[in-house]
Amino acid sequence: YVEKVRALEIFDSRGNPTVEVHAYLSDGTVAKAEVPSGASTGEKEAVELRDGGKRLQGKGVTQAVANVNGPINDALKGLSPYNQAEIDRTMIKLDGTQNKAKLGANAILGTSMAIARAAARSKDEPLYRYLGGCDLEMPQTFHNVINGGKHADNGIDIQEFMITPVAKNSFRDGFEKIVNTYHALKAVIEEAGFETGLGDEGGFAPNLKSSEEALKMLRTAIIKAGYKPGEDIAIAFDAAASSFYNTEDGKYHFEGHIWNGEEMLQYYDKLLKEFPEIISCEDPFDENDWENFEKFTAKFGSTHQVVADDNVCTNPKLVRKAIKDKLCNSILIKLNQIGTITETLETIRLARKNNMTTMVSHRSGETGDTFIADFTVATNAGQLKSGAPARSERVEKYNRLLEIENQIGVENERLNHFPNNVDFD
Ligand code: PGA
Ligand code: ZN
Repeated sequence: YVEKVRALEIFDSRGNPTVEVHAYLSDGTVAKAEVPSGASTGEKEAVELRDGGKRLQGKGVTQAVANVNGPINDALKGLSPYNQAEIDRTMIKLDGTQNKAKLGANAILGTSMAIARAAARSKDEPLYRYLGGCDLEMPQTFHNVINGGKHADNGIDIQEFMITPVAKNSFRDGFEKIVNTYHALKAVIEEAGFETGLGDEGGFAPNLKSSEEALKMLRTAIIKAGYKPGEDIAIAFDAAASSFYNTEDGKYHFEGHIWNGEEMLQYYDKLLKEFPEIISCEDPFDENDWENFEKFTAKFGSTHQVVADDNVCTNPKLVRKAIKDKLCNSILIKLNQIGTITETLETIRLARKNNMTTMVSHRSGETGDTFIADFTVATNAGQLKSGAPARSERVEKYNRLLEIENQIGVENERLNHFPNNVDFD
């Protein structure tokens, strides 16, 4: 049974406070989890409880920590750690609000993840196996290698330019191609006379004036690394359009233009024609501009993956509406947008049942916790985005996938004749 949960205020990759939770089980097992934090957050995300006031720019999480150590601990003490749904439901009920505003989604999610990890450890199972089952597959991964929008101080308004290995023999093989392309991109940026400093998600943040320039550099880098754009390495973007939508005039203030929805749509049309290696587009319109988002999906949804993030916030209720409205054909999955493992699983099931793809995602403020790597494999979510192959809080997730692939290989084949197959958990 759960003996106790204890939380601590720690810091994320942007130097902002966040929550770490330790779960203690009666059999002596202890495990911890750390909660990430976004910058371009959706309005309908579950509430990240912050202290306010002067300390740490108001971003302290001592109240969330106190909620874990007090009411959450009292409510979970004695419950089975193996019944994740009961653990999560108990916290949802204790909180009692629609958006986890009372206890904080940071307090609740940290506890949810720490108990899952402790339960897996106490059963002596790797986390992906404990949360998943058999027939697990490695995900397609998306790597944000040029950062713009709220994740960088440059002139690019599209937030993320990602590369994904389409031709590959294994996760490792694909990741090597990504690493090669990342290094080629650095050289391309240097040669063009721009700085090679990194943005929040480990991608480069050159001070370019337009998204087209970024895409051209990316194409050049893919070729320079020896690959075919679109065939070996494809491109995806997350516009995070809510961050350049102006609610006062209802227009998109994009890279020096002021556009209405129709003009923005025309821009995307041109962009996708000019760059056929783009296969996936996330949040092309503001989170409340469902009308133009739907138009985008109607136009490009049969040829492109259209991912909804800020407007559905991993929330099963909003995903139901998105399905009904044909808003998108893919759902972004962020555990801290909804706040428990159980609800996140519900969202994934719902999306998959309705023929939507799912992409699990890190946040721009991350920690060293690799929970999402195991979670993506466990749920067969199919896709994961966790930033560039640089900066430990990003790379740790991919390193964990390398371990998992190695392990699944061993388990699946029941062979151990590969020299570098070591048992990890
Ligand atoms: P965020 O960005 O973590 O800053 O919200 C990620 C995304 O928009 O997908
Ligand atoms: Zn997004």
